[in-house]
Amino acid sequence: MLKAALIGLGAMGSGHLNNYHRLMKEGKGVKLVAICDVDPKRLYGEEKAELNIATDDGGATEAFDYRRYLDMDEMLEKEELDYVDIVLPTFLHAPVAIKCMKRGLHVLCEKPMSLNPELCQQMIDCSRETGKKLMIAQCLRFWPAYEYLKSVVDSGKYGKVVCANFFRGGPTPMWSWENWLLTKERSGGCVIDQHVHDVDTINWIFGKPDRVVTSARRVFDTSYYDACATTYFYDDLGAVITAQDDWTINGDFKFTMNFRVNFEKGAVVWNGGDVEDIPHDGKAFTPQLDSDDGYYREMVYFINAVTQDTPTDRVPLESTKNTIALACCELQSADNKGMPVDVKF
Ligand SMILES: NC(=O)c1ccc[n+]([C@@H]2O[C@H](COP(=O)([O-])OP(=O)(O)OC[C@H]3O[C@@H](n4cnc5c(N)ncnc54)[C@H](O)[C@@H]3O)[C@@H](O)[C@H]2O)c1
Repeated sequence: MLKAALIGLGAMGSGHLNNYHRLMKEGKGVKLVAICDVDPKRLYGEEKAELNIATDDGGATEAFDYRRYLDMDEMLEKEELDYVDIVLPTFLHAPVAIKCMKRGLHVLCEKPMSLNPELCQQMIDCSRETGKKLMIAQCLRFWPAYEYLKSVVDSGKYGKVVCANFFRGGPTPMWSWENWLLTKERSGGCVIDQHVHDVDTINWIFGKPDRVVTSARRVFDTSYYDACATTYFYDDLGAVITAQDDWTINGDFKFTMNFRVNFEKGAVVWNGGDVEDIPHDGKAFTPQLDSDDGYYREMVYFINAVTQDTPTDRVPLESTKNTIALACCELQSADNKGMPVDVKF
């Protein structure tokens, strides 16, 4: 049974906590023994009663006896852990992951890996030197709709990709700790924080583009960019591949992610519900996919990899570093009014 600690109990950390409750109930080989957050309101709850913090499952939290810490170093000192699950603001990913690996712990770390490829490389070096597993939670690599898309591309059943578009967007993240998400130096803005999901998907499925062209717009003073659109040029493939992100769609608009990928002989389309597989010369159908989401599935994958000491090769560290390098090329293009930027990695 692995002993885990969750570091960061904000918007996303609460989601991880819910999944630990489920994983523990299901006997999936993990016990969450400790949680750490610097904010007592997040850790103990203010509006929500203690032992019922930010979880979907009402009183179920009471069944679990993890300890709570306001100070990460104290937790690392006192607890015997196998791994930590880092769900902290992005600028803390590299230093905290490195600190934990040096203390002999495996690390599951939320996306994005870090703010630039140099910091990602430091994380990779530390994982190699310590022999500790480090996996970046790029959840779309475990999301059934995106897995299906990758399988269609890899199978070649519809020939080459002709045109593809990926979108994500929704309300402005005004809830974050010290407003880090809208602070350029801490989050990298929507390009590094939110759009990075589609950057990673494109890198994972299509590989390195030759060039990118990005237009982007800042809406909030302290932010970097809050909306962006990128075209990815693959000279050999010749496909039109674009991705757009916008976290300024407020009001009643709900967070949305979707894609539409058209091939020479068919298309795969996803609008958040069932995936539609549409042959150009036949009847569209809905493939049967796993009903669990990528958040849960990536945790199961990581826990199994640590338990069985198998590689986390669905999410190679070089690949997640390249995703950050690609996103940084997009920022360079946007900073230069859409100048084409050659991608090198
Ligand atoms: N996979 C996804 O779809 C997804 C979605 C949202 C966020 N995320 C990622 O999750 C991470 C956290 O984002 P969030 O939205 O939960 O942010 P958040 O601001 O809601 O939560 C961050 C938490 O970290 C705590 N914290 C800050 N410094 C700390 C420290 N030194 N020690 C312990 N706790 C500390 C804060 O008090 C806060 O509770 C980010 O990397 C973000 O990109 C991923």
